[in-house]
This record gives sequence, C-alpha cells and structure tokens, in this order.
Amino acid sequence: MTAPPSHRTLPRFSATFSPQTIAEIQRAAATGIYDIRGGGAKRVLPHFDDLLFLGASISRYPLEGYREKCSTDVTLGTRFAKKPIKLKIPVTIAGMSFGALSAPAKEALGRGASAVGTSTTTGDGGMTPEERGHSSILVYQYLPSRYGMNPDDLRKADAIEIVIGQGAKPGGGGMLLGQKISARVARMRTLPEGIDQRSACRHPDWTGPDDLEIKIEELRELTDWEKPIYVKVGASRPYYDTALAAKSGADVIVLDGMQGGTAATQEVFIENVGLPILAAIRPAVQALQDLGLHRKLQLIASGGIRTGADVAKALALGADAVAIGTAALIALGDNDPQLQAEYEKLGTVAGAYDDWQEGLDPAGITTQDPTLAARLDPAKAGRRLANYLSVLTLEAQTIARACGKSHLHNLEPEDLVALTIEAAAMAGVPLAGTNWIPGITK
Ligand SMILES: Cc1cc2nc3c(=O)[nH]c(=O)nc-3n(C[C@H](O)[C@H](O)[C@H](O)COP(=O)(O)O)c2cc1C
Repeated sequence: MTAPPSHRTLPRFSATFSPQTIAEIQRAAATGIYDIRGGGAKRVLPHFDDLLFLGASISRYPLEGYREKCSTDVTLGTRFAKKPIKLKIPVTIAGMSFGALSAPAKEALGRGASAVGTSTTTGDGGMTPEERGHSSILVYQYLPSRYGMNPDDLRKADAIEIVIGQGAKPGGGGMLLGQKISARVARMRTLPEGIDQRSACRHPDWTGPDDLEIKIEELRELTDWEKPIYVKVGASRPYYDTALAAKSGADVIVLDGMQGGTAATQEVFIENVGLPILAAIRPAVQALQDLGLHRKLQLIASGGIRTGADVAKALALGADAVAIGTAALIALGDNDPQLQAEYEKLGTVAGAYDDWQEGLDPAGITTQDPTLAARLDPAKAGRRLANYLSVLTLEAQTIARACGKSHLHNLEPEDLVALTIEAAAMAGVPLAGTNWIPGITK
C-alpha cells in the first residue's frame, strides 16, 4: 500500500520525545522500576573538547619534541604530610571499589599504575591484598559507608582520601546489588551475602565543615602526620567546597565532574546532578588562589578524562594532576569489541555496555562471578593500562612542548582558547579569535 500524499516518506522523530526517551517511558511503564546503570553522564556536555591550545609561533618559543625535556612529575601532599607522595606522571587511578570491580581488575590497576610510577586508590568496601600487593603507591578511601574500614589498612596505605562525594552522584550514596555481594565482598563489608546494599550519602559523624576538620585531624593522628589527607568532592559548588576542604586542612582536593563514572546509580541522577568538570576547575582554583593556597595544596581533577589533551587542558586550567576511572577500565579490556557476541546476549553492544551493577561483565572487570573474573589476566591487563598511561603522558608532553613548556605544570590558561561561548565562560579563557572571556572581560 502506498502512503497517502499528505504522509511523510521518512518518519520524523521528536527531539523531545526521542526514540530513546520513548523506550525509557515504555520500560518504566512496563516495570515500575527506575533505571540503574554504571558509568558517567552520557549526554553531550561542555567538555575539554571545547578548548584548544595555542601552540607557539613568533610570540612564543616551542620546545623540540625529541631533544628538549618536558617533565611530568608531581608531588602530592606537600602542605602538611611528613611523607608526601611523589608520582612520575600526573595521571592517577581513581578510587573504584572491590565489589564494583573484581579482584583481578584491582590487581591489574595496581600493576599498570605501578609500572609507570603512579598511584591507585581503594574504594568503598576496603582494601584487598591484591591491590596493596601490586600498587607501589596506594591511596585508601575513607567513605561515608565505612564499609571495610579498618585502621590497620589505613596505616598500610600511602595516603588517605576522605570521600565526601562523587561527580556522578554528588549528594547521593552508592549501590551494590545483591548479585555482586559475594561471600568475600560480604565478609569485607560485614553485610549479608547476596542482598542489595546501599552506601550512605553522608558521613555518620559529621554535619558540616567543622566536623571535617576534626576528622582530618583524627586521621593525621592515626597515621602520625605522615600520610597526605585528600578530600574528594563531586563538582557542584566547587568554589565553596574547595575553600572549605582547604580550610579544614586537606593536603589534596579531588574534584570529580559529572562525566565521572560510578559503579551503579540511578540514571536520572547521573544525567541531571552536578557540574561538568570543565565548569568546576576554575572556580576551585580561584578558591585556592583567594586563600593563597594554589600549588601549596594539590588539586586533582577527574570526570571524563580520556586523552593526553584532556590531561594537558585540566593542568592548564590549574589542576596539579588528574584521576581516571572509566578510561582505565577500558584500557584493561572493558567494552572490548572482541566480546561483541556476549554483549549482545546482555542486550547491548561493545561501546555502550554500562550495566555494571548486574555483575555479568564478559570482560571479567565489573563482576564478582569467579568464572567471569578469571577471564581477566591481571598481568596482561596491567600492561595494557601501563601502555595507555604512557600514551596519555606522551600526548600531554607533546602539547606542552608545542606551547614552550618544560614541565606539564607550566601550562596555563593563557595557552587555551574556547570554541564556544559557554566553554569560554566556564573555563575562563577567551573565545577563539577574540579577547573576550564572558563574565570577565568586555
Ligand atoms: C566501576 C567504578 C567504581 C567506582 N567506585 C568508587 C568508589 O568506591 N569510591 C569513589 O569515591 N568513587 C568511585 N568511583 C568514581 C571514581 O573514583 C572517579 O571519581 C570517576 O570514575 C572519574 O571519572 P571517569 O570515570 O570519567 O574517569 C567509581 C567509578 C567506577 C567507574
């Protein structure tokens, strides 16, 4: 049957009620259950892609790529800690819990990071011997849930990270579904096996910044003032949160934007709460500058870091280092196209797999199933991560040299322009081809 003349030949989809929106309404109507998934915000957001570097030419002098040095080291915890952490590269591995990740994945992260001289971080649910054993520098997370919190492990760590929030869910707690609460995970968290678990959204023993100050001091006493104390916040009010963390005595502030991954949270939360990291770094740096603390305590930025260009841009905006989660998992083997047939069995495709909460990851990374976890070879996956971290560093150095910088930390906002007015306003750099920084210059 031919369509009547008034009928369009191509179906026209609504931007508001897109096919994905319609499918989600239908799914919600059929199940009555909200969607949970892993990963970070998937919508298009202002990001580092909206910034470009101005390479050197007549007014600036570049460095020769293969002969002239461009250093990449960073020391974290120079403010108060007796034993600050020295990293060879400014890219660290973000906190990802054992429970969310398999034990071989945690081991692989440790192997890969240690091979290139950087740190890994524990996560909700405590420290595993695998990650301590294979991480030459390990940061121990102190979380609202206190799952797996153990003073002995605290002393075994090289730094402590107090988690106030995450970029994917600032103000929200964690989720670990029963499928992933294996006997080992349950034992470490002192929780029943196989039962859905929620992690608290706020620490049980404080109601505000004064309590944070007391907590930092307690942790310093416990660790003999040796270990740097980090404070991690999800980007939402970066100026005030950074200022309060700094005033409370943090050595390092970790600022995590909304593209940042999570193991599992409500989709509506991931996509609608928080700030992209592009919009958060400059206010955080401003807070530190206003307190005379920029570069005296260190700022780590995270949330959607993928390339050496992202690393260089975050540093140019004033961060001292970055942290990566999702990209590290991809480097280990997450969303590998070779597993396409298995992703299809889970109703998805390589490149879009995000149902990490189900514990069915064919790559053996976001699972507690012993058979699936055994698929990940930690030595091989660790080498892949080390390769990737090296590439990130080489790429960042390439850009820094082109801007005439002999250290990645010499990159500065002056090296950047923005492609959109929005990015110019958020990053506080001029719109490309103009001297205009919206909100700052006329
Ligand atoms: C699988 C997974 C598990 C995570 N678990 C934790 C956690 O236990 N504690 C925490 O503070 N953040 C956790 N995060 C967030 C990361 O620490 C980090 O903030 C985020 O991954 C950075 O953004 P990116 O993934 O875009 O690199 C997790 C992220 C992922 C992907």
